[in-house]
Amino acid sequence: MTKQRFLITSALPYINGIKHLGNLAGSMLPADVQARFRRLQGHEVLFLCATDEHGTPAELAALEAGQNVVDYCTLQYEIQKTAGDGFHLSFDHFGRSSSAENRVLTQHFADQLEKNGFIEERVSQQIYSLDDERFLPDRYVEGTCPKCGHDPARGDQCDNCGSLLDPLELINPRSKVSGSTNLEVRDTAHLFLRQPLMEAQVRAWVDAAEEWPSLARSIAYKWLDEGLQDRAITRDLKWGVPVAYEGVPRTGFEAKVFYVWFDAPIEYIAAAQEWATLHGTDWARWWRKDKGAEDVTYIQFMGKDNVAFHTVSFPSTIIGSGEPWKLVDRLKAFNWVTWYGGKFSTSQKRGIFMDKALELLPGDYWRWYLMANAPESSDAAFTLEGLQAAINSDLANVFGNFINRITKFAISKFDGIVPTGGIAGEIERDLLTNVLDKIALITQYHEEMEFRKAATETRALWVLGNEYLQAKAPWTLYKTDIDQSALGVRIGLNLCALFAILAQVFVPETAGKILDALGVPPQNRNWPNAVDAGLFDALPHGLKISELPVLFQKIEDEQVVEWGEMFGGG
Ligand code: 2FM
Ligand code: ZN
Repeated sequence: MTKQRFLITSALPYINGIKHLGNLAGSMLPADVQARFRRLQGHEVLFLCATDEHGTPAELAALEAGQNVVDYCTLQYEIQKTAGDGFHLSFDHFGRSSSAENRVLTQHFADQLEKNGFIEERVSQQIYSLDDERFLPDRYVEGTCPKCGHDPARGDQCDNCGSLLDPLELINPRSKVSGSTNLEVRDTAHLFLRQPLMEAQVRAWVDAAEEWPSLARSIAYKWLDEGLQDRAITRDLKWGVPVAYEGVPRTGFEAKVFYVWFDAPIEYIAAAQEWATLHGTDWARWWRKDKGAEDVTYIQFMGKDNVAFHTVSFPSTIIGSGEPWKLVDRLKAFNWVTWYGGKFSTSQKRGIFMDKALELLPGDYWRWYLMANAPESSDAAFTLEGLQAAINSDLANVFGNFINRITKFAISKFDGIVPTGGIAGEIERDLLTNVLDKIALITQYHEEMEFRKAATETRALWVLGNEYLQAKAPWTLYKTDIDQSALGVRIGLNLCALFAILAQVFVPETAGKILDALGVPPQNRNWPNAVDAGLFDALPHGLKISELPVLFQKIEDEQVVEWGEMFGGG
């Protein structure tokens, strides 16, 4: 296989608090599975993510926590990074959208867009708080929803009826900062990105993007068909990338910053720069088509709410810059993971968040359940009962039991040495054919980023191994035909290695333990070639394997009850 280059990004988790398992399942985790898969295939991968730190919600969360926003973001960044590590997310770099690199790039893109005639200054009206001495954009103002009467509704959206709102529409508006109702409407100037001017180019680009999975394409067309709008890309806030800066004074914009959704996707590029600076390497070959990025396949992962920003807004920024930046090649979008059919909610204590999850079970357990139930064709309900079934059946009974059973037998009867002897017969030939078919299918599903199907077929492969051992019964043959018993053990051990190699993408920690115990060196842990007939003889004869602990602990019914009480189960 020719070596390719893959740039993989996950939607940037917002900084205001630890993310729940649904956020993990809808972008960071599948992105990690794909990054691991491509690396194992021998390709060169740059896998990037970062915290999305600017904007009103961060300022408000800091205010609530009684911290200044810079300290707040630093602390939350560390918390999110630690949680990501606990789930074995193998980012090459986990950056921060508040980095100096992103500030410079965001200002650069705005300047390019302005130079190319895609930016227009417009005056609009916004609520100003006399007591707070500041404008109150978006969520800084709350009041009664004009559509449904719910109170409090946020300035940008009513959580009760879901309507998108303009803060000026709120009834009885008040400041979220101080509670003050001493408010007035004032004129304020903002920069608007003239997206309609780029509509034809964006559409042509989407038309050409045949490789996008269908959810992303259909959302992109929905937005294009509705017609693109001019979009305000600045805000009256302190926390963000300054609009006016040295060399580009932009009079009247001294107290304004770029809108968080303008600078966040630019962080994908900035994260590559942060990474390159840290490692003394080159970022441009991943991002600039004039510097080699023409060869890169760029894959983005995100929840469905992010698709419009990545198929329309960010591409408009890139296209409008007139510069040869890389655009996404394949965009994988996900539906929601729900908590028993409802919303995860921190305030209502519904659902498990990333930090708490790791206190209950190792990262691998969650990874498997979330990917085996990925919200691909529709929303997927997370339930503790579903988690229990997936762990106890798939991981403990089918996968773990296979590995533990055959390695134990090899250790007790063959001194833990990969045995020689035994000539393969019909049953081994059938097994090989079936295994090769499964490998081809699993590989295909990973290539297509069909995570559920990839997990289903991975499990089916484990089942083939169990069926073989069941039929071959090397423990019985040991007394009657030692050579055939040796053959069964040798094939069983080779299957252990194969299963672990393929499982690295889903359960990397456990897979690593198995491969260590089998003495498989790192350079032999690559993704198998589906036509590899030597699969059953990959482990050198005479190799000594080590004992493995029980790989997966079952989840007890009492734990399901206890966790249900803690996290609001069904
Ligand atoms: O939806 C979100 O949580 C955003 N923080 C995603 C940003 S992704 C990208 F554009 F940076
Ligand atoms: Zn409402």
